[in-house]
Amino acid sequence: MNAPDYEYLRKLLKERSGLDLSADKQYLIESRLLPLARKAGLSGIPELVQKLQGGSSALITSVVEAMTTNETFFFRDKVPFDHFRDTIMPEVLKARAGRRSVRIWCAAGSTGQEPYSLAMTLKEMSAALSGWRVEIIATDLSQEVLEKAKAGVYSQFEVQRGLPIQMLMKYFKQTGETWQVNPELRAMIQHRQLNLLQDFSHLGTFDVIFCRNVLIYFDQETKINIFNRLARQIEPDGFLVLGAAETVVGLTDTFKPIADRRGLYKPNDARAVAANAAAAPRMAAMAGR
Ligand SMILES: C[S@@+](CC[C@H](N)C(=O)[O-])C[C@H]1O[C@@H](n2cnc3c(N)ncnc32)[C@H](O)[C@@H]1O
Repeated sequence: MNAPDYEYLRKLLKERSGLDLSADKQYLIESRLLPLARKAGLSGIPELVQKLQGGSSALITSVVEAMTTNETFFFRDKVPFDHFRDTIMPEVLKARAGRRSVRIWCAAGSTGQEPYSLAMTLKEMSAALSGWRVEIIATDLSQEVLEKAKAGVYSQFEVQRGLPIQMLMKYFKQTGETWQVNPELRAMIQHRQLNLLQDFSHLGTFDVIFCRNVLIYFDQETKINIFNRLARQIEPDGFLVLGAAETVVGLTDTFKPIADRRGLYKPNDARAVAANAAAAPRMAAMAGR
Protein backbone atom coordinates (compact mmCIF):
# COMPACT_ATOMS: atom_id res chain seq x y z
CA MET A 1 0.00 0.00 0.00
CA ASN A 2 1.44 3.38 -0.85
CA ALA A 3 2.04 5.99 1.85
CA PRO A 4 -0.64 8.52 0.75
CA ASP A 5 -3.32 5.79 0.67
CA TYR A 6 -2.31 4.63 4.13
CA GLU A 7 -2.38 8.19 5.49
CA TYR A 8 -5.81 8.77 3.93
CA LEU A 9 -7.24 5.61 5.54
CA ARG A 10 -5.60 6.37 8.89
CA LYS A 11 -7.16 9.84 8.96
CA LEU A 12 -10.57 8.59 7.83
CA LEU A 13 -10.67 5.93 10.56
CA LYS A 14 -9.53 8.35 13.25
CA GLU A 15 -12.26 10.81 12.30
CA ARG A 16 -15.06 8.30 11.93
CA SER A 17 -14.47 5.84 14.77
CA GLY A 18 -11.61 7.21 16.89
CA LEU A 19 -9.35 4.32 15.87
CA ASP A 20 -5.80 5.57 16.32
CA LEU A 21 -3.49 3.49 14.11
CA SER A 22 0.27 3.89 14.48
CA ALA A 23 2.42 4.44 11.39
CA ASP A 24 3.20 0.72 11.01
CA LYS A 25 -0.23 -0.92 10.80
CA GLN A 26 -0.40 -1.32 7.00
CA TYR A 27 -0.71 -5.10 7.42
CA LEU A 28 -3.81 -4.67 9.59
CA ILE A 29 -5.51 -2.45 7.03
CA GLU A 30 -4.57 -4.81 4.20
CA SER A 31 -5.77 -7.93 5.99
CA ARG A 32 -9.15 -6.38 6.81
CA LEU A 33 -9.79 -4.20 3.77
CA LEU A 34 -8.50 -6.33 0.89
CA PRO A 35 -11.31 -8.90 1.29
CA LEU A 36 -13.80 -6.03 1.50
CA ALA A 37 -12.38 -4.41 -1.67
CA ARG A 38 -12.54 -7.70 -3.56
CA LYS A 39 -16.12 -8.29 -2.41
CA ALA A 40 -17.04 -4.86 -3.73
CA GLY A 41 -15.55 -5.82 -7.12
CA LEU A 42 -12.53 -3.55 -6.71
CA SER A 43 -8.99 -4.49 -7.73
CA GLY A 44 -7.35 -3.58 -4.43
CA ILE A 45 -6.65 -0.88 -1.84
CA PRO A 46 -5.78 1.93 -4.34
CA GLU A 47 -9.14 1.55 -6.09
CA LEU A 48 -10.92 1.32 -2.72
CA VAL A 49 -9.30 4.59 -1.63
CA GLN A 50 -10.34 6.23 -4.91
CA LYS A 51 -13.96 5.20 -4.29
CA LEU A 52 -13.83 6.43 -0.70
CA GLN A 53 -12.44 9.77 -1.84
CA GLY A 54 -15.37 9.94 -4.25
CA GLY A 55 -17.57 10.03 -1.12
CA SER A 56 -19.36 6.65 -1.17
CA SER A 57 -20.95 6.75 2.28
CA ALA A 58 -22.03 3.06 2.26
CA LEU A 59 -18.44 2.09 1.49
CA ILE A 60 -17.10 4.38 4.23
CA THR A 61 -19.41 2.67 6.74
CA SER A 62 -18.26 -0.78 5.58
CA VAL A 63 -14.60 0.24 5.88
CA VAL A 64 -15.09 1.70 9.37
CA GLU A 65 -17.00 -1.41 10.51
CA ALA A 66 -14.42 -3.78 8.99
CA MET A 67 -11.69 -2.04 10.97
CA THR A 68 -13.39 -2.39 14.36
CA THR A 69 -12.17 -5.16 16.63
CA ASN A 70 -15.23 -6.95 17.99
CA GLU A 71 -13.54 -9.52 20.21
CA THR A 72 -15.70 -10.29 23.24
CA PHE A 73 -16.98 -13.23 25.25
CA PHE A 74 -19.37 -14.03 28.07
CA PHE A 75 -18.30 -12.80 31.53
CA ARG A 76 -15.06 -11.51 30.01
CA ASP A 77 -12.37 -11.20 32.72
CA LYS A 78 -14.90 -12.49 35.30
CA VAL A 79 -13.85 -10.01 38.04
CA PRO A 80 -15.88 -7.01 36.73
CA PHE A 81 -19.02 -9.18 36.81
CA ASP A 82 -18.21 -10.31 40.36
CA HIS A 83 -17.84 -6.61 41.28
CA PHE A 84 -21.13 -5.92 39.54
CA ARG A 85 -22.91 -8.60 41.58
CA ASP A 86 -21.10 -8.12 44.91
CA THR A 87 -20.26 -4.40 45.08
CA ILE A 88 -22.24 -2.39 42.55
CA MET A 89 -25.69 -3.98 42.77
CA PRO A 90 -25.85 -4.14 46.58
CA GLU A 91 -25.12 -0.38 46.66
CA VAL A 92 -27.64 0.33 43.91
CA LEU A 93 -30.29 -1.74 45.70
CA LYS A 94 -29.81 0.38 48.81
CA ALA A 95 -29.44 3.76 47.12
CA ARG A 96 -32.38 3.28 44.72
CA ALA A 97 -34.73 1.49 47.15
CA GLY A 98 -37.01 4.54 46.99
CA ARG A 99 -37.53 4.71 43.26
CA ARG A 100 -36.90 1.02 42.53
CA SER A 101 -35.24 1.45 39.19
CA VAL A 102 -31.79 0.90 37.79
CA ARG A 103 -30.35 2.06 34.46
CA ILE A 104 -27.31 0.35 33.00
CA TRP A 105 -25.44 1.33 29.82
CA CYS A 106 -23.16 -1.13 28.12
CA ALA A 107 -21.25 1.14 25.75
CA ALA A 108 -19.45 -0.76 22.96
CA GLY A 109 -21.28 -3.99 23.76
CA SER A 110 -20.19 -5.66 20.51
CA THR A 111 -22.03 -8.90 19.65
CA GLY A 112 -23.94 -8.93 22.94
CA GLN A 113 -22.03 -11.27 25.23
CA GLU A 114 -21.30 -8.42 27.68
CA PRO A 115 -24.86 -7.05 28.04
CA TYR A 116 -26.28 -10.60 28.21
CA SER A 117 -23.77 -11.41 30.97
CA LEU A 118 -25.11 -8.40 32.90
CA ALA A 119 -28.70 -9.46 32.22
CA MET A 120 -28.02 -13.01 33.48
CA THR A 121 -26.36 -11.62 36.62
CA LEU A 122 -29.45 -9.51 37.27
CA LYS A 123 -31.78 -12.46 36.60
CA GLU A 124 -29.89 -14.40 39.23
CA MET A 125 -30.84 -11.59 41.66
CA SER A 126 -34.52 -11.63 40.70
CA ALA A 127 -35.77 -11.90 44.27
CA ALA A 128 -33.99 -8.71 45.36
CA LEU A 129 -35.08 -6.92 42.19
CA SER A 130 -38.71 -7.96 42.35
CA GLY A 131 -40.89 -4.95 41.46
CA TRP A 132 -37.91 -2.99 40.08
CA ARG A 133 -37.65 -1.39 36.67
CA VAL A 134 -34.41 -2.65 35.12
CA GLU A 135 -33.10 -1.01 31.96
CA ILE A 136 -30.05 -2.19 30.05
CA ILE A 137 -29.02 -0.22 26.98
CA ALA A 138 -26.34 -1.82 24.82
CA THR A 139 -24.75 0.34 22.13
CA ASP A 140 -22.07 -0.10 19.51
CA LEU A 141 -20.75 1.75 16.50
CA SER A 142 -21.12 -1.27 14.26
CA GLN A 143 -24.56 -2.13 12.87
CA GLU A 144 -23.33 -5.60 11.98
CA VAL A 145 -22.45 -6.59 15.55
CA LEU A 146 -25.70 -5.05 16.82
CA GLU A 147 -27.72 -7.31 14.52
CA LYS A 148 -26.01 -10.33 16.01
CA ALA A 149 -26.48 -8.99 19.55
CA LYS A 150 -30.20 -8.46 18.93
CA ALA A 151 -30.65 -11.98 17.53
CA GLY A 152 -28.73 -13.44 20.49
CA VAL A 153 -27.65 -16.48 18.48
CA TYR A 154 -24.24 -17.94 19.28
CA SER A 155 -22.13 -20.84 18.05
CA GLN A 156 -21.01 -23.75 20.22
CA PHE A 157 -17.55 -22.15 20.34
CA GLU A 158 -18.96 -18.80 21.53
CA VAL A 159 -21.05 -20.29 24.34
CA GLN A 160 -18.03 -22.28 25.49
CA ARG A 161 -16.10 -19.05 26.06
CA GLY A 162 -16.78 -17.86 29.61
CA LEU A 163 -20.37 -19.00 30.01
CA PRO A 164 -20.95 -21.36 32.95
CA ILE A 165 -22.82 -24.50 31.85
CA GLN A 166 -25.69 -23.87 34.31
CA MET A 167 -26.26 -20.43 32.74
CA LEU A 168 -26.21 -21.97 29.26
CA MET A 169 -28.85 -24.51 30.26
CA LYS A 170 -30.98 -21.92 32.05
CA TYR A 171 -30.95 -19.01 29.62
CA PHE A 172 -30.34 -20.49 26.14
CA LYS A 173 -32.17 -22.78 23.77
CA GLN A 174 -30.27 -25.04 21.40
CA THR A 175 -31.30 -25.10 17.76
CA GLY A 176 -29.12 -27.41 15.71
CA GLU A 177 -25.56 -26.17 15.95
CA THR A 178 -26.40 -22.86 17.61
CA TRP A 179 -27.75 -21.52 20.88
CA GLN A 180 -30.20 -18.64 21.25
CA VAL A 181 -30.67 -16.47 24.32
CA ASN A 182 -34.19 -16.91 25.66
CA PRO A 183 -36.80 -14.22 24.83
CA GLU A 184 -37.13 -13.04 28.43
CA LEU A 185 -33.42 -12.19 28.62
CA ARG A 186 -33.43 -10.65 25.15
CA ALA A 187 -36.32 -8.40 26.18
CA MET A 188 -34.21 -6.94 29.00
CA ILE A 189 -31.84 -5.22 26.57
CA GLN A 190 -32.36 -2.35 24.15
CA HIS A 191 -29.73 -2.40 21.40
CA ARG A 192 -28.89 0.90 19.71
CA GLN A 193 -26.32 2.14 17.25
CA LEU A 194 -24.11 4.80 18.82
CA ASN A 195 -20.71 6.28 18.06
CA LEU A 196 -18.91 7.29 21.25
CA LEU A 197 -17.28 10.19 19.38
CA GLN A 198 -20.67 11.78 18.98
CA ASP A 199 -23.07 13.32 21.46
CA PHE A 200 -24.74 10.73 23.71
CA SER A 201 -26.46 13.07 26.16
CA HIS A 202 -29.87 11.97 24.77
CA LEU A 203 -29.40 8.58 26.49
CA GLY A 204 -30.00 10.23 29.87
CA THR A 205 -28.23 9.34 33.10
CA PHE A 206 -27.19 5.91 34.32
CA ASP A 207 -26.45 4.20 37.60
CA VAL A 208 -23.84 1.96 35.97
CA ILE A 209 -21.81 2.35 32.79
CA PHE A 210 -19.74 -0.52 31.40
CA CYS A 211 -17.32 0.91 28.83
CA ARG A 212 -14.77 -1.84 28.36
CA ASN A 213 -12.07 -2.58 25.82
CA VAL A 214 -12.93 0.20 23.42
CA LEU A 215 -11.02 3.23 24.72
CA ILE A 216 -7.75 1.32 24.25
CA TYR A 217 -8.07 2.00 20.50
CA PHE A 218 -8.28 5.80 20.95
CA ASP A 219 -5.67 8.50 21.52
CA GLN A 220 -5.42 10.40 24.82
CA GLU A 221 -7.38 13.45 23.72
CA THR A 222 -10.29 11.27 22.56
CA LYS A 223 -10.25 9.23 25.78
CA ILE A 224 -10.33 12.41 27.92
CA ASN A 225 -13.16 13.78 25.83
CA ILE A 226 -15.20 10.59 26.27
CA PHE A 227 -14.51 10.30 30.01
CA ASN A 228 -15.63 13.87 30.57
CA ARG A 229 -18.86 13.32 28.66
CA LEU A 230 -19.45 9.96 30.41
CA ALA A 231 -19.17 11.81 33.73
CA ARG A 232 -22.19 13.88 32.75
CA GLN A 233 -24.28 10.76 32.03
CA ILE A 234 -23.61 9.04 35.32
CA GLU A 235 -25.43 9.56 38.62
CA PRO A 236 -23.21 11.18 41.28
CA ASP A 237 -23.19 7.87 43.21
CA GLY A 238 -23.01 5.71 40.05
CA PHE A 239 -20.26 3.42 38.80
CA LEU A 240 -18.06 3.33 35.70
CA VAL A 241 -16.49 -0.01 34.77
CA LEU A 242 -13.47 -0.05 32.44
CA GLY A 243 -11.48 -2.86 30.80
CA ALA A 244 -8.36 -4.40 32.32
CA ALA A 245 -6.00 -2.28 30.18
CA GLU A 246 -7.89 0.98 30.69
CA THR A 247 -7.80 3.67 33.38
CA VAL A 248 -8.74 7.29 34.00
CA VAL A 249 -5.60 7.82 36.07
CA GLY A 250 -3.40 10.53 34.56
CA LEU A 251 -6.12 11.52 32.07
CA THR A 252 -8.98 13.13 33.98
CA ASP A 253 -10.15 13.82 37.52
CA THR A 254 -13.84 13.42 36.68
CA PHE A 255 -13.66 9.81 37.97
CA LYS A 256 -11.73 8.25 40.83
CA PRO A 257 -10.72 4.57 41.15
CA ILE A 258 -12.32 2.53 43.94
CA ALA A 259 -9.66 0.97 46.18
CA ASP A 260 -9.37 -2.84 45.92
CA ARG A 261 -11.91 -2.97 43.08
CA ARG A 262 -9.85 -3.01 39.90
CA GLY A 263 -11.63 -1.49 36.92
CA LEU A 264 -14.29 0.27 39.03
CA TYR A 265 -14.59 4.06 39.19
CA LYS A 266 -16.89 6.58 40.81
CA PRO A 267 -17.57 10.11 39.61
CA ASN A 268 -15.41 12.60 41.46
CA ASP A 269 -16.81 15.45 43.53
CA ALA A 270 -18.92 18.15 41.88
CA ARG A 271 -16.06 20.68 41.71
CA ALA A 272 -13.88 18.49 39.50
CA VAL A 273 -16.81 17.68 37.25
CA ALA A 274 -17.67 21.39 36.98
CA ALA A 275 -14.07 22.21 36.08
CA ASN A 276 -14.16 19.69 33.29
CA ALA A 277 -17.52 20.96 32.11
CA ALA A 278 -15.92 24.40 31.75
CA ALA A 279 -13.43 22.85 29.33
CA ALA A 280 -16.31 21.30 27.39
CA PRO A 281 -16.63 23.59 24.33
CA ARG A 282 -13.30 22.50 22.85
CA MET A 283 -14.19 18.85 23.54
CA ALA A 284 -17.66 19.20 22.08
CA ALA A 285 -16.21 20.64 18.88
CA MET A 286 -14.02 17.59 18.61
CA ALA A 287 -16.88 15.18 19.33
CA GLY A 288 -19.17 16.76 16.78
CA ARG A 289 -16.87 16.28 13.83
C1 LIG B 1 -13.14 -5.22 21.58
S1 LIG B 1 -14.86 -4.89 21.51
C2 LIG B 1 -15.26 -4.85 23.23
C3 LIG B 1 -16.59 -5.48 23.52
C4 LIG B 1 -16.96 -5.57 24.99
N1 LIG B 1 -17.10 -4.27 25.59
C5 LIG B 1 -15.96 -6.39 25.76
O1 LIG B 1 -15.19 -5.82 26.55
O2 LIG B 1 -15.92 -7.61 25.57
C6 LIG B 1 -14.86 -3.17 21.03
C7 LIG B 1 -16.19 -2.70 20.45
O3 LIG B 1 -16.15 -1.27 20.36
C8 LIG B 1 -16.84 -0.88 19.20
N2 LIG B 1 -16.40 0.48 18.83
C9 LIG B 1 -15.26 0.86 18.22
N3 LIG B 1 -15.24 2.18 18.04
C10 LIG B 1 -16.38 2.68 18.57
C11 LIG B 1 -16.95 3.98 18.70
N4 LIG B 1 -16.31 5.06 18.23
N5 LIG B 1 -18.14 4.10 19.28
C12 LIG B 1 -18.80 3.01 19.75
N6 LIG B 1 -18.33 1.75 19.67
C13 LIG B 1 -17.14 1.58 19.09
C14 LIG B 1 -16.51 -1.94 18.18
O4 LIG B 1 -17.46 -2.01 17.14
C15 LIG B 1 -16.46 -3.20 19.05
O5 LIG B 1 -17.66 -3.91 18.98
